[in-house]
Amino acid sequence: MITVYHDSDLSEEERRARIYDGHLFVFTPSNAARALCDFTEELIEDAFGGQDPRKAQYDMSVEDFVAIVAPLQPRFIHHPKTKELIVDLLNEVACDPEKTYFDVPRMRVSTSSGYLTSGVGYQLHPHRDNWYSAPPSQLNWWLPIYPIGSDSTVAFHPRYFRQGVKNGSRGFNYYEWNSEGRKNAASQIHEDTRNQPKAEEELELADQDVRLVPKRAGIMLFSGAHLHSTVPNTSGLTRFSIDFRTVNYDDVVAHRGAPNQDWEFTGTTLRDLMRCTDLAHLPEEIIEAYDKGSKPEGGTLIYRPADAPVR
Ligand SMILES: [Fe+2]
Repeated sequence: MITVYHDSDLSEEERRARIYDGHLFVFTPSNAARALCDFTEELIEDAFGGQDPRKAQYDMSVEDFVAIVAPLQPRFIHHPKTKELIVDLLNEVACDPEKTYFDVPRMRVSTSSGYLTSGVGYQLHPHRDNWYSAPPSQLNWWLPIYPIGSDSTVAFHPRYFRQGVKNGSRGFNYYEWNSEGRKNAASQIHEDTRNQPKAEEELELADQDVRLVPKRAGIMLFSGAHLHSTVPNTSGLTRFSIDFRTVNYDDVVAHRGAPNQDWEFTGTTLRDLMRCTDLAHLPEEIIEAYDKGSKPEGGTLIYRPADAPVR
């Protein structure tokens, strides 16, 4: 059984506990979430130079579309104002700023009708973020920049929260991914050749999805351990969304979080996260307890260049 909590009155601690148990949370658009959306929308519209960003895919080649989106994503991700707006948002939903660490948000672009499904517009296959080296306590925050529908949102595959899936995470090392996988996003236009961890067995997905459809700037909050995927967009409009992750310091230290059904990655994403109050990183000795894999030759502990992350 999975419960969807809407604007819940639970304490933040209790909320995290429910999320680690697979439950989902949705929030009505708050002032800070609207401010984050407004800012993102401005950047998007500026990049598309007066064209309607949701319809631009119909008036340009996919190469031209990628040429607009590829620099737009890092511009948003690394803009100093983006971090301030995320911190405001987390404050508004009662996250303890001293104990909450977040990473820079991603901007996702999901075009309609299969126009672009790779690279900077990657249509995410069913995955857990933990297949990509996320800690069990990772919370995922997701919000649409324009109105969305059931045909352009995220799908959850909740039965797999409590059931393992044979998958490729055993071959995934986060530091190798930082070195190679991310760099190549903009060059993946017609197909995606990056080595991403995927299910290695037939999944039962049809009619089992749960799809949440928040308003513009409404937030979905869920465990990174949920199996989730991009709904194939058939809405006729390009979907723009943002998402970011947080962890709570106490839960990281105590190794609390969602149950590990099947992940076997090496490396950890914990070095990416910054404390809300001062953007400090987690202490290295805490991270090392998660760092199961040794750093490979030429691997990169933290990804810094301006590029569009995928997961
Ligand atoms: Fe994900």
